[in-house]
Amino acid sequence: MPDGHRYPAEQRDAVYRVIAERRDVRRGFLPDPVPADVLGRVLAAAHQAPSVGFSQPWDFIVITDRARRERIAALARRHRDEFAADLPGARARAFDRLKIESILDTPVNIVVSCDRTRGGRHTLGRHVQPRTADFSSVLAVANLWLAARAEGLGVGWVSFFDERELAAELGLPAHLEVIAYLCVGYVADFAAEPELAMAGWARRRPVSWAVHAEEFGRRGLPGEEPVDPLAEVTAAIAPPDAEAMAAARERQDRMTKPRGSLGVLEDVSVRLAGLAGSCPPPLPEPACVAIFAADHGVHAQGVSPWPQEVTAQMVANFLAGGAVVNAFAAQAGAEVAVVDIGVAAELDPVPGLLPRKIAPGTADFTAGPAMTREQATAALTAGIEIARDLVAAGNRCLITGDMGIANTTASAALICAFTDADPAVATGRGTGIDAVTYARKIEVICRGLQLHRPDPADPVGVLAALGGFEHAALAGLILGAAALRVPVILDGVIAGAAALAAAALAPDAVAACFAGHRSAEPGHAIALEYLGLHPLVDLGLRLGEGTGALLALPLLQSAARALRDVATFDSAGVSDKA
Ligand SMILES: Cc1cc2nc3c(=O)[nH]c(=O)nc-3n(C[C@H](O)[C@H](O)[C@H](O)COP(=O)(O)O)c2cc1C
Repeated sequence: MPDGHRYPAEQRDAVYRVIAERRDVRRGFLPDPVPADVLGRVLAAAHQAPSVGFSQPWDFIVITDRARRERIAALARRHRDEFAADLPGARARAFDRLKIESILDTPVNIVVSCDRTRGGRHTLGRHVQPRTADFSSVLAVANLWLAARAEGLGVGWVSFFDERELAAELGLPAHLEVIAYLCVGYVADFAAEPELAMAGWARRRPVSWAVHAEEFGRRGLPGEEPVDPLAEVTAAIAPPDAEAMAAARERQDRMTKPRGSLGVLEDVSVRLAGLAGSCPPPLPEPACVAIFAADHGVHAQGVSPWPQEVTAQMVANFLAGGAVVNAFAAQAGAEVAVVDIGVAAELDPVPGLLPRKIAPGTADFTAGPAMTREQATAALTAGIEIARDLVAAGNRCLITGDMGIANTTASAALICAFTDADPAVATGRGTGIDAVTYARKIEVICRGLQLHRPDPADPVGVLAALGGFEHAALAGLILGAAALRVPVILDGVIAGAAALAAAALAPDAVAACFAGHRSAEPGHAIALEYLGLHPLVDLGLRLGEGTGALLALPLLQSAARALRDVATFDSAGVSDKA
């Protein structure tokens, strides 16, 4: 019997139970002391963890002294405040409601440290991967956490510390690192789900997103066919929920205001309800603008007066917080994520930059396809995965942003391909070009269309022939969000072109799209009309970056909030019109 060493069912169930029911606990600790024998068992379990080269690099510092815990709590408070000061509006409000440590609420605090030198130079396995020492101490934490749960003890991990500051407070020798600060005590109850999930801060990712067969990207659970994220999301996208839409319409009519007096915002609220499948729908916050940056081979045709380097320079500006999109995001309380989906330059890793480069720019579409089908699919998939990640991180509204010198040329070409519009009508002046450049831009688009003869029934083919990596990734973002029934606010012409591709792949994806604004680019109006979307603001913007869409964020939020919060004639005792 290959499974002859398997535990009896009841014991196996207990193992899986403790894994499922282990929680990071921050609330509801009881003041009761933890008996020494119980604490001893939990520490002995921690000490049985696997370790690199059997180096057992951990030490456990058990802290009960109140004065010391008060000093440590003050250290954590300072970092909590610093973190809070950095958060965008809706996140800051949500964070304010979270409890992130229980240093003074628990009778015992345990520090798990790591000695990366223990075992000497020839520690088996650590010689190539020094980090394995830290991993070993983390495994001791995991053992401790599980044993504590079995003993009915709650554990809360606090990481709001400057590691050296904490080490000094604990008298740790310089060669020891703090790995974990754990607050331990009996609890009134264990939550069924992670507290951060229950607070809406983040969501659990399905296990199927995390399992790959043989190679990264071949996602699929054992025994199942590998799933293609593009096929998976297009299959998952469903029409809006008619019942929730009817309930929203009916509620709008009962709200203490004349019927229809919220104009377009009533339609927005009804669409949000249909997308969420509930009335009222959740407020579209927190929100995140994802700026997809990429370069374009067609730039070589002289379609823009700006040098290609500006794409990378603006990415640096977004990351430094100096662009218009940063100002508008700060005003609207949205997070900014910058995605390198195909910038020609090498970009240094910095916080806030998601490195997802498919290639250093597309090829010139007047000479051949802008990208291969594989590259188009990879960019679509990257967009889908970014949507999933941003939604799993707790965002309830995604906003499209883009940066790519020459991307209005690729956008106009895509719009012509999908809507059969005339390039002379759909092409705009982008950043502002003279008559000669404008004529050349139209001619370049015509040549591209003639060369590729794109078939709108093959959206991946159209993207590959004429698109930019940001268009493909934005189409993926829209599809990913639509599958998760999260609204997407579209920015200007680049997003409009991407939405046409998304709609061609899954027509119901349009139900997740809200047109943030109408850009000055003529192709944008053509795309919006084709999609049946009505822009929420029309201010003659033609900047891109996500700026126009960010301006519409408070409109979506107000529409949802009105549907949720406004009293009805019956509930408020207000007389309806005769
Ligand atoms: C390395 C690490 C550091 C953590 N730091 C903190 C922290 O500083 N404050 C906090 O409230 N939770 C912290 N947590 C707890 C996580 O938020 C928690 O594990 C996660 O939300 C999943 O919930 P669960 O542990 O109940 O399954 C930390 C967890 C880990 C693994």
